[in-house]
Amino acid sequence: MHVDKDKELARRLAQIEAMGGPERTARQHEMGKWTARERIAYLLDPETFEEIGAHVQHRSTRFGMSTVDAPADGVVTGFGRIDGRLVYVFAQDFTVLGGSLGEMHAAKIQRVQDLALKAGVPIIGLNDSGGARIQEGVDALNGYGEIFKRNTWSSGVIPQITVIMGPSAGGAVYSPALTDVIIMVKHTAQMFITGPQVIQTVTGETVSAEALGGAEAHLRRSGVAHLVAADDGQALDLVRRLLSFLPQNWMEQPPVRPSDDPVGRVEMALSSVIPEDPNKPYNVLEVIARIVDGGDFFELQKGYADNLVVGLGRIGGRSVGLVANQPRVLAGTLDINASDKLARFVRFLDAFNIPVITLVDTPGYLPGTAQEYGGIIRHGAKVLYAYAEATVPKVTLILRKAYGGAYLAMCSRSLGADLVFAWPSAEIAVMGPEGAANIIFRREIESSDDPVQARSAKADEYRQLFANPYVAASRGYIDSVIDPAATRGHLAQALMVLYNKRDDRVRRRHGNMPV
Ligand code: HXC
Repeated sequence: MHVDKDKELARRLAQIEAMGGPERTARQHEMGKWTARERIAYLLDPETFEEIGAHVQHRSTRFGMSTVDAPADGVVTGFGRIDGRLVYVFAQDFTVLGGSLGEMHAAKIQRVQDLALKAGVPIIGLNDSGGARIQEGVDALNGYGEIFKRNTWSSGVIPQITVIMGPSAGGAVYSPALTDVIIMVKHTAQMFITGPQVIQTVTGETVSAEALGGAEAHLRRSGVAHLVAADDGQALDLVRRLLSFLPQNWMEQPPVRPSDDPVGRVEMALSSVIPEDPNKPYNVLEVIARIVDGGDFFELQKGYADNLVVGLGRIGGRSVGLVANQPRVLAGTLDINASDKLARFVRFLDAFNIPVITLVDTPGYLPGTAQEYGGIIRHGAKVLYAYAEATVPKVTLILRKAYGGAYLAMCSRSLGADLVFAWPSAEIAVMGPEGAANIIFRREIESSDDPVQARSAKADEYRQLFANPYVAASRGYIDSVIDPAATRGHLAQALMVLYNKRDDRVRRRHGNMPV
């Protein structure tokens, strides 16, 4: 009797293991994609995966579905470990009904979402799906709705990471969009609400699926993707790296990764990074690389709104988020896309107990009708909201320009920075010297014999008076003007002294953040 039962189990497991069978698996490989099981095996620490729901079957009878066998209903779900830490995972398998999402497929995803949320464990979704299972109609749609709801409830409680490793079409894109970080695989991943054929019919536009919703389009143009990988393996490596910076849930601290890089490391190169000419750009990534442990900086959304850099690093072994204006792109101005990028990143850090270091060098918000009509007021307000709302340690370092509204926006003391440092090259003013001279010395300049010379002289006069860190420091808006070479040590001390910071806000249902 036992022998028969064991055989039956072995038969069923073999069927589940084979998923869509050798032909469809071969096709998946031809497309440069791995199967769900191959992906999970690569992602998790060896031998740690515990599958749940492997025997789940669909219940659909329409459109000939009663005779269709769909192993694991096209999605592999369970838990395992990454660097020894627990994670939940679901991986859609394109070899089974195109990874399409029916009622039971969705229920399996909801199950791991519920378990992950209750236990405070990160969840990783590996998406490769033709979307709602057409044969299952409204049951499939309902499945998505239940997943979206759980994505929302989990937001800010546990890290949710999505890897797009195949198609993701229609409303299916919204579950990834509700998660914290989206990683896309080049050439095989595509995300769009309506595909090329619908677009052609409705608007007459011709566009390929790749140009419309490929990884590059979403990294550079839409800002939907945070990271892009060359292939499945690299995408899964990025998940592992990302998790190394994050806590398991909002109540825990991020893991500490001891480093032999001395926290007090002096970097003479930082003393010469700012050019003599205040209008000359430099690369703020060089500053970041010299501040973080081992120069190891994990940049997110690189390629989108590059006038602002965001990413994760460590100082003294502890995770920090870095936000920096990039003078090399649009002179480091803040525009709509940079504001969105910044606000979402700061809220992500704040949700997961990661201190934020802000490096400031911005002449202000980007002027122009495109920005004004596009709602820079509304989008820029998100930056103020995100910083003022954040209760994690906030340390600001003004490298050079901090003008006007952008001075305030970039985590000024007024918005709640815990400690504000400035380099001697910092200029804190209502606006740049030339613009200021044009307004307050307009009559003198116009009545002068040589207005160009007069404007330059008045701008210099203004610069001497205001374009330095000392006026702001004398008012207490800056806590310390520091030697650039010693920046890492100062930031490390600041983080150390702020480690146990507690900063409660007034109780309310929730704020009404501008969106
Ligand atoms: C059922 C599906 C399916 C789906 C694919 N398949 N998508 N089955 N429901 N949505 C099946 C195919 O019938 C096929 O089965 C197998 O999966 C592989 O698909 P192919 O078409 O052969 O693969 P490929 O040529 O690589 O094309 C992949 C694809 C295409 C681009 C994803 O299958 C496609 O366009 N599918 C429909 C996509 C779509 O419109 N989905 C609905 C989106 S709307 P066999 O048996 O032949 O191997 C949506 C709403 C969500 O999702 C709403 C949330 C609120």
